[in-house]
Amino acid sequence: MRKLLILIAALSCAAVITVARSANFSLQEVPKESKTQPKEVVLDKDSQSDKYGEVAFNHENHATKMYSIDGKSVISCVECHHTDQPPAVLKAPLKTSEREVALTAALLQAADSKPVKTCRACHLQSGDDSATIPSVTYADKPAPVKLTNELAYHTNCNICHDKAIAARPTLKGKIPGSNDCATCHKPVG
Ligand code: HEC
Ligand code: HEC
Ligand code: HEC
Ligand code: HEC
Repeated sequence: MRKLLILIAALSCAAVITVARSANFSLQEVPKESKTQPKEVVLDKDSQSDKYGEVAFNHENHATKMYSIDGKSVISCVECHHTDQPPAVLKAPLKTSEREVALTAALLQAADSKPVKTCRACHLQSGDDSATIPSVTYADKPAPVKLTNELAYHTNCNICHDKAIAARPTLKGKIPGSNDCATCHKPVG
C-alpha cells in the first residue's frame, strides 16, 4: 500500500512538471518572424531539458564574418534560412520554399519584403503538437526523420562546426564541436 502511495505521489509530480513545461512553449525570446537581424541571441531559454539549457548565438558574426568551413567566405543567409530561397535552387533533401528570391541582407531593406521566420516557427520542440513538426528523408536513411528544434539546430550548427574543425585544426577548443555540449548549453540552474 505504502509503495502504491509513493508511486501515485511520484506520478502526480511528473504530471505537474509536464504541465508547467507545456506552458513554456511560447516563451521563446526571438519573435516568430522579423525583418531585423539579431546581433546576439540566447536560444533555448525554454529548454525542456534539465541539463542542456540556454545557447548563446552570435548572429552578427555568423552572417557577416568569414565563418564558412574553410574560413574564406561569409556564409550565405540561405545556408541556415533554407526556406528563404526559390524552389529551383533547392538541393535535396530540401524541397520547401517560401521565398521567390534568395534572402540577403539587402533584400530585407525593401519595404515590401517578407519578414524572416525563426527556425522555431517550424522546428517545434518535441511534444509540441501545435503544428506538424517537419520531417526530412535522407538518401542514406530508410525512414523519414522528424526535425524537432533539437535535431534541426544540431544538424545546422554541428555539421558545419565539425567540418570546420576538421578542415582547420587550430579551431579545436575555440569553437564547440558536436560533443562539446556544455560549451554551447548553459546548465539549467
Ligand atoms: C549560421 C546560420 C545563420 C546565418 C548564416 C544567418 N542566419 Fe539569420 N538567424 C539564424 C538563427 C539561428 C536565428 C535565430 C532565430 C531562431 O531562434 O530561430 C536567425 C534570425 C534571423 C532573423 C530574425 C528572425 C526573427 O523572427 O527574429 C532575421 C531577420 C535573419 N536571421 C536574417 C538573416 C539574414 C538576412 C542573413 C544573411 C545576411 C542571415 N540571417 C544569416 C541563423 C542564421
Ligand atoms: C553548437 C552548439 C550546440 C552544441 C555543441 C550542442 N547543442 Fe544542443 N542545442 C543547440 C541549439 C541551438 C538547440 C535548439 C535551440 C532552440 O530551440 O532555441 C539545442 C537543443 C538541444 C536540446 C533540446 C532542448 C529543448 O527542449 O529545447 C537538447 C536536449 C540538447 N540540445 C542537448 C545537447 C547535447 C546532449 C549535446 C552534446 C552531445 C548538445 N546539445 C550539443 C546547440 C548546441
Ligand atoms: C517555414 C518552415 C521552416 C523554417 C522557418 C525553417 N525550417 Fe528547417 N526545415 C523545414 C522543412 C519543411 C524541412 C524538411 C525539408 C524540406 O521540406 O525542405 C526542414 C529541414 C531542415 C533541416 C534538414 C535538412 C538537412 O539538410 O539536413 C535542417 C538542418 C533545418 N531544417 C534547419 C533549420 C534552421 C537552422 C532554420 C532557421 C535558421 C530552419 N530550419 C528554418 C521547415 C522550416
Ligand atoms: C556554415 C557554418 C556554421 C554554421 C551553420 C554555424 N556556425 Fe558557429 N561558427 C562557425 C565558424 C567557422 C566559427 C568560428 C570562426 C572563427 O573563429 O574563425 C563559429 C563560431 C561559433 C561560436 C564561437 C563564438 C562566435 O560566435 O564567434 C559559437 C558559440 C557558435 N559558432 C555557435 C553556433 C550555433 C549555436 C549555431 C547554430 C544555430 C552555429 N554556430 C552555426 C561556423 C558555423
